[in-house]
Amino acid sequence: MMTALDIVVMAAGKGTRMKSRIPKVLQRLAGRALLLHVLGQAARLAPRRVVVVTGHGAPEVEAACDRAISLEGYFDHHFELHCVRQEPQLGTGHAVQQAAPLLGACRTLGVDSENAPQPTIPKSDRRLEDDGLVLVLSGDVPLTQADTLRALVAAAQGARLALLTVKLPDPTGYGRIVRAADGSVQRIVEHKDASAAERALSEVYSGIMAVPARLLKGWLARLTNDNAQGEYYLTDVVAMAVHDGVPVVAHCIDDALQVAGVNSPAQLAALERAHQARQAQALMEQGVRLADPARFDLRDDARDGTRAELRCAQDVDIDVGCIFTGCVELGEGVQIGAHCHISNARIAAGAVIHPYTHIDGEQLGAEVGPGALVGPFARLRPGAQLGPQVHIGNFVEVKNSTLAEGAKANHLAYLGDASVGAHVNYGAGSITANYDGANKHRTVLEADVHVGSNCVLVAPVTVGAGATVGGGSTITKDVPAGALSVARGKQVNIPGWQRPVKQRKA
Ligand code: UD1
Ligand code: CA
Repeated sequence: MMTALDIVVMAAGKGTRMKSRIPKVLQRLAGRALLLHVLGQAARLAPRRVVVVTGHGAPEVEAACDRAISLEGYFDHHFELHCVRQEPQLGTGHAVQQAAPLLGACRTLGVDSENAPQPTIPKSDRRLEDDGLVLVLSGDVPLTQADTLRALVAAAQGARLALLTVKLPDPTGYGRIVRAADGSVQRIVEHKDASAAERALSEVYSGIMAVPARLLKGWLARLTNDNAQGEYYLTDVVAMAVHDGVPVVAHCIDDALQVAGVNSPAQLAALERAHQARQAQALMEQGVRLADPARFDLRDDARDGTRAELRCAQDVDIDVGCIFTGCVELGEGVQIGAHCHISNARIAAGAVIHPYTHIDGEQLGAEVGPGALVGPFARLRPGAQLGPQVHIGNFVEVKNSTLAEGAKANHLAYLGDASVGAHVNYGAGSITANYDGANKHRTVLEADVHVGSNCVLVAPVTVGAGATVGGGSTITKDVPAGALSVARGKQVNIPGWQRPVKQRKA
């Protein structure tokens, strides 16, 4: 039987240096709250339960956790989520103390059908593994990968204290790993408590450890706040382990990004760029051509939590400054011009999206058919469905409308709640008046309709196949197939018209 894994995420700190009203762990990286990055990777370890320690902004932080848990498929594995409050915040050791009653083989939890109640075995007869392992994470360290956490858990072997460490050229501010002459880890000393010699040590503690639950609980009970900051340091458990003869292992990784914390807007921006650079790299490895990987962004859709996913077929070209959010699919040979923002959309093979186009499918999605041309400066909104070879030009907005093969709306137009047939030509400046102030109505333009410039189609209205609508018309009644409909003031020419002249004062 595998050792059960419980995860504690410390997320009570204030984040003073962010100078923000938003709790630090809810600041966003790639469209997702920092804490949800941490929980996302944590979930991949299939833990039994996750305990989030909240304090500053607790109600908001807890609401964000609950929302994510309630989204189907947001996390790769189901886990039991608990939030516990830490008030006031007396240090990382104090934070984990708040979670302790929920860790290991505890009976304070309600019985859940999947997790049978823990058998009552006398303490002395229980092996350490029976109580499970605890992995401690920080809510403000967003880029640790599940594989790294798995390796740390493995290093603990169910019975040891395993610390995730990294060597930094500038270790200022971090807890240092102090080793004995034989190389064994002795303790962690916080920067503020460290001697000059200790400050010279470059191996630092990441804030992430794996430890058997039963040992952790015993050590937590013995923590004191006798140090430079007057805090209960979680890191003091290392010296306790050594004292108790429990082996301590340091699992040292090379990738400093995975343990980098966010304390300031500058650090948040630096991690954002590093994260985006990695996503860009992964796409290029699949064959996607990015004009500049440093000017590429792929983010979660923060509005509904849709996870960032960009699926690209072969020979996709993406120019500089493009932002993709939520789930976007690009078919073979698709070209995305500079500075496009594309969210929750499918773009079929051979389509070309010219620069500065905004496509946002929100929850309904938006679709661009094969070989379609869109933009520059076009806007596709939820429910826009463009068929093959459709052309949508500059300053054209399409919402909840289908356009069949070869339909064109090339300039300054609005199509809302419309069904547009094949090869329709929709003139410059024409709009569907789809909203009567209370309800939305549909406009139907059958195949081969030609709508002149500057027309208003007052929905509900149908223009029959092959009909023509004269420029400047306001169409309020259906137009029969094949007809010409003109609905505008008749032009009157008055020859030799004399303009009024200014009267002189007497
Ligand atoms: C901590 C470690 C340090 C390590 C560093 C890595 C301790 C004593 N020190 O220091 O060895 O090098 O992380 O980044 O653990 N938090 C609470 N409640 C509290 C205090 C903090 O929940 O009372 C949370 C914070 O929100 C944060 C995490 O714990 O998510 C770390 O706290 P922070 O104050 O940033 O610790 P460091 O001083 O960076
Ligand atoms: Ca920190």
